[in-house]
Amino acid sequence: MTAPVLQATNLTKRFGEFVAVNDVSFTIRPGEILGLLGPNGAGKTTTMHMLLGLITPTSGSIHVFGMDLATQRERILQQVNFSSTYISMPMALTVEENLWVVARLYGMTDIARRVDDVVKKLEMEEFRRKITRKLSSGQMTRLTLAKAFLTEPKILFLDEPTASLDPDIAHKIRTLLKEERRSAGLSILYTSHNMREMEEMSDRIIFLQRGRIVAEGTAQEIVARFGQADLEDVFLKLARESR
Ligand SMILES: Nc1ncnc2c1ncn2[C@@H]1O[C@H](COP(=O)(O)OP(=O)(O)OP(=O)(O)O)[C@@H](O)[C@H]1O
Ligand SMILES: [Mg+2]
Repeated sequence: MTAPVLQATNLTKRFGEFVAVNDVSFTIRPGEILGLLGPNGAGKTTTMHMLLGLITPTSGSIHVFGMDLATQRERILQQVNFSSTYISMPMALTVEENLWVVARLYGMTDIARRVDDVVKKLEMEEFRRKITRKLSSGQMTRLTLAKAFLTEPKILFLDEPTASLDPDIAHKIRTLLKEERRSAGLSILYTSHNMREMEEMSDRIIFLQRGRIVAEGTAQEIVARFGQADLEDVFLKLARESR
């Protein structure tokens, strides 16, 4: 079997006394879309932030392409990217200027062509010259996705990428993600509170509850194990048990 692109081993994150992520281990395989599912506060974003080196795990380890994130952070981060609603960008710059800034930070060449490509891919022509501060939330989401795609990463971490998108754009984004996975072998870690989307997108799902993994498998496997009709019912059962 091919080596995983990412391996998280016994990850724990404490904030003071509070344990946000509790002894979590998982792998992401090449070209796999792994869905991270769980109620509000389950530890999904905290997990992603550890994988991105934005916060340091209290204990446990993260290996990406076989390299230890604790010691080879820079080399690893050249090959990954992320998108989340919390990304802050210079608000006074235009959409296009922000993409140029990212490209320069990553030391990319042929920037004009790559910015054009990503603007086209995400259907951003209409607002490419708009000031970032003036974007609608769906446009802002597309900009953060564009920023993530621009650097042609091998792994993408997407924290609720379709949360503020209209159904048409959300559908296009899902299609694009699946296409990139197929054509470029992109691996994706994904969160969403949309259960249909989770079922459609994920090769495998990890269900987090209060910082622990409570279920893992394909959507069908998880649904069968909990004896429910669909993922939405599994979610409701588990979330209500924990409240
Ligand atoms: N910097 C921090 N300091 C203290 N507690 C934190 C911090 N960051 C997160 N937490 C707590 O850790 C828990 C997990 O938060 P996290 O953001 O990872 O949840 P989530 O699964 O992404 O939830 P959501 O679905 O609402 O996005 C929450 O109880 C949150 O309050
Ligand atoms: Mg979150």
